[in-house]
Formats: sequence, C-alpha cells, structure tokens
Amino acid sequence: MHMKNPLILGIESSCDETGLALYQAGQGLLAHTLHSQIALHNEYGGVVPELASRDHVRHALPLLRQALHIAKRSLDDIDAIAFTQGPGLSGALLVGASIANALAYTLDVPTIGVHHLEGHLLSPLLSDPAPSFPFVALLVSGGHTQLMRVDGVGHYTLLGESVDDAAGEAFDKSAKLLGLDYPGGALLAKLAQNGTPGRFKLPRPMLHSGDLDFSFSGLKTAVLLAVQKNDSDDQTRADIAHAAQEAIVDVLASKAMSALKQTGLKQLVVAGGVGANKALRERLDSAVAKRDGHVFYPDIEFCTDNGAMIAFAGAMRLQKQEGQLDYRFNIKPRWDLQELNYAD
Ligand code: KG4
Ligand code: ZN
Repeated sequence: MHMKNPLILGIESSCDETGLALYQAGQGLLAHTLHSQIALHNEYGGVVPELASRDHVRHALPLLRQALHIAKRSLDDIDAIAFTQGPGLSGALLVGASIANALAYTLDVPTIGVHHLEGHLLSPLLSDPAPSFPFVALLVSGGHTQLMRVDGVGHYTLLGESVDDAAGEAFDKSAKLLGLDYPGGALLAKLAQNGTPGRFKLPRPMLHSGDLDFSFSGLKTAVLLAVQKNDSDDQTRADIAHAAQEAIVDVLASKAMSALKQTGLKQLVVAGGVGANKALRERLDSAVAKRDGHVFYPDIEFCTDNGAMIAFAGAMRLQKQEGQLDYRFNIKPRWDLQELNYAD
C-alpha cells in the first residue's frame, strides 16, 4: 500500500480473546477494545473451541463499533484490515478471517493475514521506550515458548524452543493441580507471593542442556507429587506455587541470558502472556542490567492476546508488501514463524 499514513483495523480471534484495534501509521494506536472469554471457559477448566468461536461471533462487531467510537472514526476511514491468520484454534481463526474479509470486501480495502506470534513479538514496539532491531525475543505464551533473534520485521531466527509444554501451560497446569481456576498463571503468581522460598525444590529440566531449548512437562509431575505428599493447607499450597514459579522463572531467565551471550546482543524483548509475570520481570531486569543490557516488555494490556498487536504487525507488513484484494482467504492453525521471513 502506498497511501500515506493508512488506518489499519486489527482483528485478533485466535483463542479466547476477541480483540479489535485501530492503528494509524504516524499517529500510533487510536483505540483498542477487548473481550476476554475467561469467565466463559472457566467452568470447563480450559478453552472449549466451539464456545470460543461462537463468542467471537457475538463480540467482534460490537467491539469494532466501540473502537471506532473511541477513535472518532467511521468505517469508511479504514484503509486496510489485518486479522490473525494463525496459529490458533481453527474455528476461532475462521471467525476473525471471515469478518475481516467480508468487511474489507464491502469497504474495498486490502486484507493482510498476520501471524499471531509476530504480533506478540512486535508488541513491545507499541510501548515507549521501544527496542530497536536487532534484539532477542523471549516469547512466552500459553502455547509457545521460544527464543528468537529478531533483525527486523520479517527477519526472524529461531534460537531455541520448548520440546514439550509451553511456559504458560506449565503455569496453568501447576495452577490447576493447586486447585486454581483456568487460566491459572496470574492466580498462581498471586498465591506464590505468600510462599516460603526454599521449602520445596522442584526440578529445572534442561537447565544445563547446553542449548537454548526448554522442557516443562516434568514440572507438572513434580507439582502433582508435592501436592499429593503434603497437606493442602493454604501455606503449603502457597509454598508449592512459589517453588513452581521459581523453577519456571529460573529456566526462562537462564536460557534468555544464554541467548544474549550467544548472539552478543544487549536488548531482550519479552512477549506473550507469561511476560506479565512479576517474578520473571524482576529476575530478567537484574540479570540483564548486570550485562549493561535492557529488557523491554509490552505494556501489561498488550502482553496477553489483543487486537493492537495485530493491527500494528499488519501496519508493519503493509510497509513492505501489498495487502490482498481478492478476499480469498485461508487460515493457518499451525504456522512456522520463520515462513514469514523476507528474502532480503
Ligand atoms: O499470550 P497469551 O495471552 O495467550 C496465548 O497466545 O497463549 O498467554 C496466556 C498465558 C496463559 O498460560 C496464562 O496463564 C499466562 O499467559 N499468564 C501468566 C500471567 N498472566 C498470564 N503466567 C504467569 N504469570 C502471570 N502473571
Ligand atoms: Zn497469544
């Protein structure tokens, strides 16, 4: 697109949050609105895909109207529509993709399919101060744990990733074993605040593996054993929560530091829902500061899934490539981030 300062609508619907946002190049984020389905899925202990899809249908257009109202813009002002094309739940992705393409068709504007993790990866650029390329990114969400080297938009190198559970999953599964609601990451962190450091010592798989990969599936077994072997009084639960969080934070921080050493870079960007974790932030801040480096986090509201990061990633992509005008779309429930790399 060659238009000056285009207005981009972003639509996120890959999992259990419906997020809409309006981003204008040169001006920044004009509005973003969000509906979380946490309460909807709560009683099932996890996301129910069919319920997620239906709820996206219910909320997308009201959230769009609300975003337009906040930004004081009308539908006709939209120059392009970015939507999450993958990875994620098929039905949920299809809702966003259908709405994006139907709307783009009626407005006669291009669409652009955005990779959900690219949205997370670039989300710290929405904050001030923003990192500059190149940087190392630690992507820690409910579905992914990856260390990436980011040399620019569309220039991503995978340095390491989890061979089994994601860090968010480790938080959520540990939380569930401690009787907390889904998704339990933030609740576990809260419980851990009252925990006694050192009472329980849980394993740190692959801490010394010599590479930048992670493994978290063993942790839930260790948490399960600790829960089974001990009384379930509040203090014990808090102590186990503290130990689980320490184990996860230890491994994430240690591997992130190795990635900085290995690449020689000084900037670390933390993205994805687990990036909201305070213990992780404190640990990374002090470790990176010792190396004269700097850690960048998205604002808390942009750590978890949201439309702003999709609108922003769409805007970045549209500076480098044309959007699509044929409105034939597909979704990519599984999608390797490195497929997005530009040749130059
Ligand atoms: O990025 P995100 O919103 O969704 C995915 O794309 O997966 O990440 C959600 C994950 C969940 O596992 C949730 O428990 C975790 O992020 N999370 C946290 C915290 N806030 C959210 N984990 C630990 N501490 C937190 N404060
Ligand atoms: Zn996400």
